Amino acid sequence: MLVLEKNNLTEEIELFASQYDFHRTALMPLLEYIQEKYHHIPDFAQQEVARVLDIHPVEVYGVISFYSFLNDQPKGRNIVRLCRTIICDMAGKCQIEQAIERELGLKFGETSKDQKITLEFTNCLGMCDQGPAMIVNDRVYTKLDPEKACAILKEIK
Ligand code: FES
Repeated sequence: MLVLEKNNLTEEIELFASQYDFHRTALMPLLEYIQEKYHHIPDFAQQEVARVLDIHPVEVYGVISFYSFLNDQPKGRNIVRLCRTIICDMAGKCQIEQAIERELGLKFGETSKDQKITLEFTNCLGMCDQGPAMIVNDRVYTKLDPEKACAILKEIK
């Protein structure tokens, strides 16, 4: 994980925002850029984004807290999100959850000590007819059973 240096980050934010003439439309792409590079958007970055785009910091935080792929806390390099919405729940989400926790020795909501994996729940992934479903980073997996889920996670372990 890259070390986040405040001076460099301020310069990066200013440079990025300049491509948008410091207009507020830079907000989302800027947050995605910071998330992608630093794996989270810390308080300092939120303040700097607000300052550079001349918007209120609460607006920046509001966007981060709305989108599950944006985080204000550091997370693992691999993020595993298991769908917890009703259809996947009824299709066996609990068995998948238990199998994954056993396989990784990690609970949902936690990040491994080596920062390699974060386990989270997510809402519907739009694959309800193929549940239970989960997304690992950008890749969606469907029709899971405990064995299939564990085999997928062995690849990132
Ligand atoms: Fe799980 Fe829709 S309910 S993908």
